[in-house]
Amino acid sequence: MGIKTTYWTVSADQPEPEIIQRAAEIIINGGLVAFPTETVYGLGADGTNPQAVRRIFAAKGRPSDNPLILHVACKDEVLGLATEVNAQARQLMQLFWPGPLTLVLPKKPCVPEEVTAGLDTVAIRMPRHPVALALIAASGVPIAAPSANLSGYPSPTTGRHVYEDLAGRIEAVLDSGETGVGLESTVLDLSGPIPVILRPGGVTREELTAVLGTVIVDQGLSDPRQKPKAPGMKYVHYSPRAEVVLIHGPREQNALKIRELVTAYADKGKKIGLLLTRETWRHLPDLKGQVAYAQDLGSCARLEEIAHLLYRELRNCDEARADVVFTETYPEEGIGAALMNRLLKAAGYKVIDS
Ligand code: TXA
Ligand code: MG
Repeated sequence: MGIKTTYWTVSADQPEPEIIQRAAEIIINGGLVAFPTETVYGLGADGTNPQAVRRIFAAKGRPSDNPLILHVACKDEVLGLATEVNAQARQLMQLFWPGPLTLVLPKKPCVPEEVTAGLDTVAIRMPRHPVALALIAASGVPIAAPSANLSGYPSPTTGRHVYEDLAGRIEAVLDSGETGVGLESTVLDLSGPIPVILRPGGVTREELTAVLGTVIVDQGLSDPRQKPKAPGMKYVHYSPRAEVVLIHGPREQNALKIRELVTAYADKGKKIGLLLTRETWRHLPDLKGQVAYAQDLGSCARLEEIAHLLYRELRNCDEARADVVFTETYPEEGIGAALMNRLLKAAGYKVIDS
């Protein structure tokens, strides 16, 4: 497409002020800038400018009924965007901001309906990344930003991922290396009587329950027959071009099942990607050289590391032109809940018991 995309490499700890200033000018002038956050890269536009916000949807190919998160650089900015910031919201902002927690609150009329897709609530978060915070502060406006991927594809965790998806569609990319968490923020709805997790993410349910007492998880997340409350969660998502198949069971048994599947798929001439835990690889060392792509995701005792790697490795399977990716399930505890949510969606809920 027609636009020249400028690519800036910036320091993650001490972002160069000249580069941030130029990126902020693009935002102020209604342009699109992709930037790193601690979760995934975001595709930013001036959240007060309806025309700029509409361009985000066009660049990503995003359905227009899917609202965006407003990113702020300081906690007080929330007061200008939400009509009611109750005690729970204040407590969570105190404890988890800046960080991977998005709060859904009743919106003020000044928030454009392009941002909220016509809803009467607005999603807000303060990211924990020096580049994101510097860009928002220099722009002087809340930045509306979804993940900076083509709609439906895994979210980007590097500047290169963004460039592959959006070059020619956006004005600039700020690249400061790999993101930390690797999965998106937790979206928590505080607009009703009881807090509801609309999307599991970087801040865990356990952490939220410890503060709030009662937290509900939106049923639409685990039951494909129910409609999720966050509009974005109803779409096919996070999926690479390859078919993703989840194997569920004890690691040793998973290894047996995977060996069987690899043989069957290879016989059909399929190219295979394997994204497995260290514990499972221990039983399959010989398979590493026999498939199109093989990656050790690390120990299943370290789910943070697996979450950090997941999107990058799904993209790597596509780059290796795998037709099918075999990967495993995890306990839905801590960050495991977000990890399983993304894996189930990537797999279209296809799970094989080992
Ligand atoms: O970590 C993240 O949250 C990243 C980084 C860039 O901040 N952003 C991100 O944005 O993941 P996006 O647009 O890919 O996902 C936002 C999710 C969608 O599922 C959307 O439907 C939901 O939040 N959402 C946004 N506003 C909402 C609202 N007012 N009510 C309910 N759900 C909302
Ligand atoms: Mg997204």
